[in-house]
Amino acid sequence: MAQWVEGRVVENIHWSENLFTLKIDADVDNFTAGQFTSLALDIDGKRIARPYSYLSSPSQRPLEFFFYTATDGILSNALVKLKSNDSLWIKQQANGFFTLDEVPESNELWMLGTGTGVAPFFSILNTDEPWTRFKKIVLVHAVRTKVDLRYQKLIALLREKRGDQFKFQAFVSREKISGTIEGRIPAAILDGSLETAINLPLSAENSHVMLCGNPDMVKDTVELLKARNFRKNRRRTPGHITVENYW
Ligand SMILES: Cc1cc2nc3c(=O)[nH]c(=O)nc-3n(C[C@H](O)[C@H](O)[C@H](O)COP(=O)(O)OP(=O)(O)OC[C@H]3O[C@@H](n4cnc5c(N)ncnc54)[C@H](O)[C@@H]3O)c2cc1C
Ligand SMILES: NC(=O)c1ccc[n+]([C@@H]2O[C@H](COP(=O)([O-])OP(=O)(O)OC[C@H]3O[C@@H](n4cnc5c(N)ncnc54)[C@H](OP(=O)(O)O)[C@@H]3O)[C@@H](O)[C@H]2O)c1
Repeated sequence: MAQWVEGRVVENIHWSENLFTLKIDADVDNFTAGQFTSLALDIDGKRIARPYSYLSSPSQRPLEFFFYTATDGILSNALVKLKSNDSLWIKQQANGFFTLDEVPESNELWMLGTGTGVAPFFSILNTDEPWTRFKKIVLVHAVRTKVDLRYQKLIALLREKRGDQFKFQAFVSREKISGTIEGRIPAAILDGSLETAINLPLSAENSHVMLCGNPDMVKDTVELLKARNFRKNRRRTPGHITVENYW
C-alpha cells in the first residue's frame, strides 16, 4: 500500500475567493504526467484524504497543485488555510491512467478541462512527449467567470515556445469576455464554433480527446463525440476519448 510522507508548504497562492495553488516540498516517488496523488490533513484526530492531480510535471520542484474550495468541503477548506512551512500528508506513489502512455497514436491531441481540471494537462504539456507525438495540441479551459481563468502566464510561455503547434481556447460561461467563447464546451462542439475558433476539425480519424473536471461536462461531451464516431479509449480496444472525472 502507498505510504504517506510528510510534505511542507512552500507557498500558498490565493488566486480568488475559490481558487488557490499549493507549492509543496515532499520526497515522493517518480510519477507520470497526468497522474494524481492523495493529499491529507489530520482534522479532529482523523486523517482526511482526497485525490488531487499533479499540475507540476514530473521533473518540476516544488510539486504544484491547483484547488477549488468546494462549498462546505472539509479538506479543500482546510488546505486553503495552510501557510508556508506548514506540513501536510502526501501519498508517496501516484495513481491513475490519465497519461499519454494510455493514449494511442493520433495526429492531434485535444485537452478539454473545466475549472481545476486543467491541472493534469499542464503537467503533460510541460514534458517533451506530447510535442514529439502530436502535430497539433489544443488546450481548452472552461470556467464560470473570468477570474477563474488562471495560469495564463504558463499558457503564454507554451505559446511562445511551441508556436503554431499549440492552440488555446478559453470558455467563460457566465460572463461575456472578448476572445473567449461564451457558454459550454458541448454546445460549441455541436454548433461547430469550437472548431471554427481553433481553425481545426475535430474528427475520430485525426483527433484524440482528453476530458477532465466536471463529470457533467465529461458525460455531455462524450455523448456528442460518440455521435461523431469517437469511441472511449480502453486498453483492449483503443479509442479516441480518455477521461478523468473530479467528482
Ligand atoms: C482523480 C481526481 C483528481 C482530482 N484533482 C483535483 C484537483 O487537482 N483540484 C481540485 O480542486 N480537486 C480535485 N479533485 C477533487 C478533490 O478530490 C475533492 O473532491 C475536492 O477538493 C473537494 O474535497 P472537500 O473535502 O473539500 O469536499 P467534500 O467534503 O469531499 O465535498 C464537498 C462538496 O464538493 C462536491 N463533491 C466533492 N467530491 C464529490 C464527489 N465525489 N461526488 C459528488 N460531489 C462531490 C459536492 O458538491 C460536495 O458536497 C480530484 C478528484 C479526483 C477523483
Ligand atoms: N473544481 C473542482 O476541482 C471541484 C472539485 C469538487 C467539487 N467541485 C464542485 O463543483 C462546483 C463548482 O466547481 P467549478 O467552479 O470548478 O465549476 P463547474 O461547475 O465545474 O463549472 C466549470 C465550467 O463547467 C461548465 N459546466 C457545468 N456543467 C456542464 C456540462 N454539463 N457540460 C459542459 N459544461 C458544463 C460550467 O458552465 P455553467 O456556468 O454553464 O454551469 C463552467 O463553465 C461546486 O459545487 C464544487 O463543490 C469542484
